Amino acid sequence: MRRSFLLLSAVLLASLGVTNAGQGAQENPDKSKATGDYKIAPEDVARVNPVKSSPEGLAEARKVFGYDCAMCHGPKGDGKGDVVESMKLTMSDWREPTTLANVTDGEIFYIITKGKGKMMAEGDRLPEKLRWNLVNLVRAIAAKGGEQKSAAATPTR
Ligand code: HEC
Repeated sequence: MRRSFLLLSAVLLASLGVTNAGQGAQENPDKSKATGDYKIAPEDVARVNPVKSSPEGLAEARKVFGYDCAMCHGPKGDGKGDVVESMKLTMSDWREPTTLANVTDGEIFYIITKGKGKMMAEGDRLPEKLRWNLVNLVRAIAAKGGEQKSAAATPTR
């Protein structure tokens, strides 16, 4: 109960935030590729992952990752996917402890949902819960690369 309330208010906040963000990043297409111009509303950054990491959730996310993400991010999350060269993508290696250390779960969720730079948005094509499980999977991949601790991934309970 409490969880679904939290989730609902987060969704409401997020939709407010999204309408306020979004603008301003378009005037210079070259610049918009740089991370500086990509704004995620504070509400979205602060969003707490409502879905606890579980073997089932990770397994489901891993399937999606295989056909939706691995071609760019690489099956291991090292950023060495098949299309990286042809699409001239600049990828980061999630297994490097520093890559995602300062990125919150909320930000990862937002990027998966809205896309970023040359990464397309998943939007509602994937159910919200699955997108959060993708966040959990990204964290799990990152954790394998080092001793990455994600405070943001700590469950609320
Ligand atoms: C077409 C290639 C492509 C696909 C497919 C793709 N991404 Fe990305 N992704 C990128 C690129 C490029 C960036 C860096 C964007 C930037 O910073 O401009 C990125 C950034 C990210 C980030 C932020 C951290 C980072 O590495 O910069 C996360 C998290 C992420 N992607 C997750 C996913 C997930 C999960 C999927 C599958 C649902 C996915 N991506 C699918 C290309 C892709």
